[in-house]
Order: sequence, then structure tokens, then C-alpha cells
Amino acid sequence: MNYPVWQLGIPGGLLIAFVAVTHVFVSHFAVGGGAFLVLTERRAYRIGDLELLGWVRRHSKFFALLTLVFGAVSGVGIWFTIGLVAPEATSSLIHTFVWAWAIEWVFFVVEIAAAIIYATCWDRLDRRSHMIVGWIYFWAAFFSLVVINGIITYQLTPGRWLQTKNFWDGFFNPTYLPSLFIRTAMCIVLAGVFGLITAVREKPELRARIVRLAGAWIVCGSLMLPLFAWWYFAKFPDFSKAYATGSILMVRHTIRGGIAFTLVVLLMALVFALWKPRLMRAPVVALLVLFAFGMMASGEYLREFVRKPWVINGYIYANDVRVSSVTDYAKRGVFGNAAWVTAADPKSVDYGHDLFVMQCSKCHTVDGYRAIRPRVRNWDATFAANMLGHLEMMKVGTMPRFAGDERDRAALGLYLASLNPHPPAQVKNIDGEGKQVFETRCGSCHTIDGKIRPLKAAFTDSTPEQIEAILPVLSTMSDNMPPFTGTDEEAKALAHYAAKAANTPAAR
Ligand code: HEC
Ligand code: HEC
Repeated sequence: MNYPVWQLGIPGGLLIAFVAVTHVFVSHFAVGGGAFLVLTERRAYRIGDLELLGWVRRHSKFFALLTLVFGAVSGVGIWFTIGLVAPEATSSLIHTFVWAWAIEWVFFVVEIAAAIIYATCWDRLDRRSHMIVGWIYFWAAFFSLVVINGIITYQLTPGRWLQTKNFWDGFFNPTYLPSLFIRTAMCIVLAGVFGLITAVREKPELRARIVRLAGAWIVCGSLMLPLFAWWYFAKFPDFSKAYATGSILMVRHTIRGGIAFTLVVLLMALVFALWKPRLMRAPVVALLVLFAFGMMASGEYLREFVRKPWVINGYIYANDVRVSSVTDYAKRGVFGNAAWVTAADPKSVDYGHDLFVMQCSKCHTVDGYRAIRPRVRNWDATFAANMLGHLEMMKVGTMPRFAGDERDRAALGLYLASLNPHPPAQVKNIDGEGKQVFETRCGSCHTIDGKIRPLKAAFTDSTPEQIEAILPVLSTMSDNMPPFTGTDEEAKALAHYAAKAANTPAAR
């Protein structure tokens, strides 16, 4: 574990997502827009449409300014953020793919040079040379996508790389192709969408011509997307697929959102670009840009989310801890072995806070985004320490294994319990409070009759007494379950609730 020097008010993952999404939005336009420019230029020459050519010229200036300035700044922004938020993973990605990064850099330099020449040398170059520069730009941009796509997809599906550590095994991994196709389709959509931005300022007649052209790109791209998305999904590892039906609502909402954005963009392009191009005015374009951003953002969010608990599947966890470190710290403990610890006493709440910062704060804040305080309400220190041994078993399915030994778990347990200083209420009414006890003690990993690890079958026809009797042996039933450490009253209430819920047809 590295030094978690950069403590933000929000989890680092969220910041990376924000910077990355704005960057990819523009960088996909930078690829698709390149092809769009040269193809439209060629068309203008072919049909002798000088007005259209004039627009391509103006659009090329907008294009170069936006992609070079914003693309470059936000690209550097990504390196800056990931380097600070996840130094271990960033370093690993650099080491594994050092030649890919080097080539990426070469493409990037070619891209910049070609874009500047293309946008500024309309008069100085003859038609043919000018278009050649445009194509050089496009292919350099596309190949930088080809390269970065290998690295990004490797993170989700490193494939045989985990055994061989061979560059090509990691690069041409199982999701490489579908992801490249999806991204290419998105480039096509964005080329059209961004084309509309400068088109609205043109005279109505010319505007309608450009709008129809741009609309055709949007329609083509968005029709391809569902097919490639399905192919991509089919290549996901099982744990990633499970998120689509899992307990995290945000993921399911985002899937629906992504589909809705795509449909609306397609529909708007059909209506306002192909059918009634004259209606394509600034407010409609603004909405289209917004919805296209929504498409991109939901896609990127999902891609990042379904990789949890990993940043590199099977190799480095999403909290920047290596699998090898988890094994190591489980034996030796974190205290005295990690590079960064501020507390002097390994038994203190302060040390527990250090562990929280190191291992949880990439995804949780205390009270803000994905707040931890309400999520550990009713957890006492013993229960918390036990649960930390099984984080990866919780039904959210997103959490890395805890790295540390018993002493570390006890300290973080102490810290988590300290977040809700009032001791959990004593159970008085076994009818009313059984549900809450169940939710606290079992609900992080089980449902009664939901999708994830339902207990209904196990408890059907059980009496409360029979259920109560298995509580003391839970941890011997499975290494994946913590022991039951509640009071006798809690045990009674829990058993009472579970028996009733498992035997009521529609109980949840
Ligand atoms: C990779 C991101 C990530 C890391 C690292 C992480 N968590 Fe979580 N955790 C999540 C997500 C996502 C949820 C589900 C949030 C929701 O319900 O929307 C969650 C939920 C939880 C819950 C509630 C579970 C339940 O259903 O009862 C607890 C408790 C929790 N985390 C504790 C921790 C602790 C303690 C650590 C550090 C040792 C940690 N988490 C590290 C992502 C993470
Ligand atoms: C940290 C997660 C976790 C918690 C908390 C937890 N369990 Fe489990 N439980 C599991 C897992 C995982 C299994 C499946 C067995 C395995 O994979 O080892 C399981 C299996 C079971 C089974 C056997 C189910 C069957 O169909 O055979 C029962 C019964 C059970 N749990 C009851 C409970 C009860 C009651 C509680 C609360 C007091 C509880 N568990 C708390 C993780 C948990």
C-alpha cells in the first residue's frame, strides 16, 4: 500500500470517473470527427459544393481547438488524478505496457501536428495533400484509441496475462475487440453530434444539408451500438455480468439510463436531422449534446463499476492493494509493515482510522458519498471486526478483501463501531426488532427470498427454536460466515423473524 497522501472530500474513484468521462467524450469526438471532416471535405470537392467546403473549414478550426486544448489538458488530468489516487495500479499499468504508452505518445504527437496543419493550412496545401494530412490525423487518432483500448480492456479481462505476464496476452484480451467496436460506433455518433454544434450558425439552406449529413452519422453509430454492447457484455466475466441483476440499484439504473439516452439520441437524429432538418436549432443541439454525454458517461461508469472489486482483475484491487499484499498482510499484519501509518498504537481507534483511509476511502466517505456511518449502524466492534474478514462475501459484491491480520481487523472494527457512538438498542420486542437484527447480522450477505443467497429454502418448515439453534454454529458451517456474536435476545428476535419471513409466501 502506498501513501494515501491525497485526501479529498470525495472518494478518489469518483474524481477519476469525472475527469475521465469528460476526457473520453472529447477524445472520441477527436477520432470520429477526424474522419467526418475529411470525408465531408472530399464530398464537397466531388459535388463542387463550395458552401459546404467553407463550413468544413470553419468546423476544422473548432475541431482542432476543442480536441487539442481540451483533449490534451484533460488527458494530462487523467494521469495526474490516477497517479495520485491509485499510484500502485498506475505504476503497474505503466510497467506492463511501457511500449504501448511510448507508441501512444508518438501517435499523440503526430495527431497534434496533423490537426494543426489540417486546420490552418487550407490555402497553403493543394486539395490532395490537405486531405492526406487529414487522413494522417485520423489514423493517428484512431490508432491511439486502438492502443489505449488494449490497456483499458486488459483491466477487466487480463485473460492469460495473469499466468504468462506476456504483453500481447494482456493487450489482445477477451474484451479487446467488442470494446474497440463499441468505441468506434461512439466515435461515429459524436462526430455527427459535434458537427451540429457549428452547423447551427450557418444559413438555413446550408445548415439543413450539414444537419442531414451529421444526422446520418448519428443514426448509423447509434444503430450499431446495441449489437456491440451485447457482444461486449457476452465477454464479461461472470462477476461483472452479475451486476446487471445484482443488489446495487445504481448499476441497474445506469444500464436503463444508457439505453434510454441511446434511444433518445437516435430518435432525435431521425426526427430533427433526417426528417425535419430545419428544426435542428441551438436548443435541440444542446439537448443532443447532453444526451450523447449521458450515453458516454453511463457506458464509462458501467465499465468501471462492473470491474469492482478490481482495478486489474485478479491482480490489484480497486483500493489499490495488490492481491499479493493481501496475502502478505494477512500473515504479517499492516502495522509496522505498511509504508504509511500515522497512529502510534495498533490497538487504537486512530489506527483503525488509518486503515479506513488506506483501504476503504477510495470508495467510501464517512458522511458524504457512499457514506460508511449509516452502513455500519448497529455494528459493535466485535461484529465489525468479524465482518471485515468477509467483506468480499457481502452481497454488494464490490468490495476487496481486507488486507490485514486479526489485530488490524480489531482496530478497524473499533473505528467503525465508534462512528455510531450510541450502543445498539437493546432488543425488547422480538416481533418488531427481529427484522432489524436480521438486517444487521445477516442482511449484508443474505436475503430471505431475494435473488442473492436466499435463506428461505434453508428455513422453510423451521421453528424459531431450530433457527436459534444453528446460530452458534454458523461460522463452522462455512468459512465465509462470521460467528453470531449477538445477545440471547437478539438471537431469539432474529430466529423469530426469520422463521416467520421464510414461511410467509410474499415476505421479503
Ligand atoms: C472498490 C470500492 C469499495 C471499497 C474499497 C470498499 N467498499 Fe464498502 N462498499 C462499496 C460499495 C459500492 C457498496 C455498496 C453501496 C451501496 O449500497 O450502494 C459498499 C457497501 C459497504 C457496506 C454496506 C454493506 C451492506 O450491504 O451491509 C459496508 C459496511 C462497507 N461497504 C464497508 C467497507 C469497509 C469497512 C471498507 C474498507 C475495509 C470498504 N467498504 C471498502 C464499495 C467499496
Ligand atoms: C459475511 C457474509 C455472511 C453473513 C454476515 C452471514 N452469512 Fe450465511 N452464508 C454466507 C455464505 C457465503 C454462505 C454460503 C456458503 C458458502 O459459500 O460457504 C452462507 C450460508 C448460510 C446458510 C446455509 C444456506 C443453505 O442454503 O444451505 C445459512 C443457513 C446461513 N448462511 C445463515 C446465516 C444467518 C442466519 C446469518 C446471520 C446471523 C448469516 N448467515 C450471516 C455468508 C454470510
